[in-house]
Amino acid sequence: MRIQVGIVGAGPAGLMLSHLLHQRGIESVVLDTRTRAEIEGTIRAGVLEQNSVDLMVETGVGDRVKQQGMVHHGIELRFGGRGHRIDFADLTGRGVTIYPQHEVLKDLIARRLADGGDIRFGVSDVEVEGIDGDAPMIRFTEDGTERVLHPDLVAGCDGSRTRTRGLIPARQDHFRQYPFAWFGILAEAPPSSDELIYARHENGFALISTRSPTVQRMYLQVDPDDTVEQWSDDRIWSELHARVDGEGARIVDGPIFSKSVLQFRSFVCEPMQHGRLFLAGDAAHTVPPTGAKGMNLALADVHVLSRAMDRYFAARDRTALDAYTATALPRVWRAQHFSWWMTSMLHRMPEASGFDLNRQLAELDAVTRSRAGRTLLAENYVGMPL
Ligand code: PHB
Repeated sequence: MRIQVGIVGAGPAGLMLSHLLHQRGIESVVLDTRTRAEIEGTIRAGVLEQNSVDLMVETGVGDRVKQQGMVHHGIELRFGGRGHRIDFADLTGRGVTIYPQHEVLKDLIARRLADGGDIRFGVSDVEVEGIDGDAPMIRFTEDGTERVLHPDLVAGCDGSRTRTRGLIPARQDHFRQYPFAWFGILAEAPPSSDELIYARHENGFALISTRSPTVQRMYLQVDPDDTVEQWSDDRIWSELHARVDGEGARIVDGPIFSKSVLQFRSFVCEPMQHGRLFLAGDAAHTVPPTGAKGMNLALADVHVLSRAMDRYFAARDRTALDAYTATALPRVWRAQHFSWWMTSMLHRMPEASGFDLNRQLAELDAVTRSRAGRTLLAENYVGMPL
């Protein structure tokens, strides 16, 4: 089967790329080893930059995010038992929207299928070959039958457990592991706060987020080796109360119906391309969740990549494709710095000395006290325009 673009992975990057290409008259096939139900049911991030919402609305997949997304005009940083608001609206004129990633995926899948798009769920043995030459191939197995795609270009959008990244021969993998993890819960409860709370406490970091008026998402910094079994509901609530409650904040408990441990790492693969293969999203880079950038970076990558592919198919002009890495990387590194900065300001390093802890509090004080400091944080959190 001949096709213009073969896309490996039906996450935010792969599905949005397929959608953006379709809008430019370029046809693609999207492959994923997961079923549609798995993709639409996996709980991931929840914060969309204004850019991401605008991209969805402008390309006709924004009806539900406009209706159901919750617009937030700020966040609270808590330390020393007090909250310090970062007022995004005042500082930047922009905001963020709380709308879970799997809802974005549902919207994109529904739209691709309505537009006649070709998404193959639940395939196996996906192998990309020949990206160095001018006739790449993607082999895969579907319902027990081996099939072959002959795309002009290949997009590796297969997430942090990517196999396509391994096809880039001369690459630099920039990697940082953190000495802690996040314990995430979903609970049936009303919101504890109108806005997200990022709390720094001697026991470690805590984040109060939300999914809907009746479902709340919260996280605790834990040891990277901790397991779900080690954290009873009572232990979770008592730790959340200890880390967050205080002047102007009190967490509301409720039945917990999901628990998971998220590993923390920063990663960038450079370059993000080779021959006819182009990586986007987590296949190319991973950020720790503190800055809420993961899904937004994936969408920003494919915004750039779809335009470059358009130029290639319209005029056989490879200039923009060749410049893809150089165009996409500055935003990736800005997000890397921001996610690392938020992480380092708010988490307790296991080996932290008295000096480290007091320096950390002084940094939080400097950032929240000065308008310039708050503006730096706010500009990065809401995201630079695409
Ligand atoms: C979430 O709601 O899952 C969430 C929110 C903000 C973050 C990370 C995760 O920084």
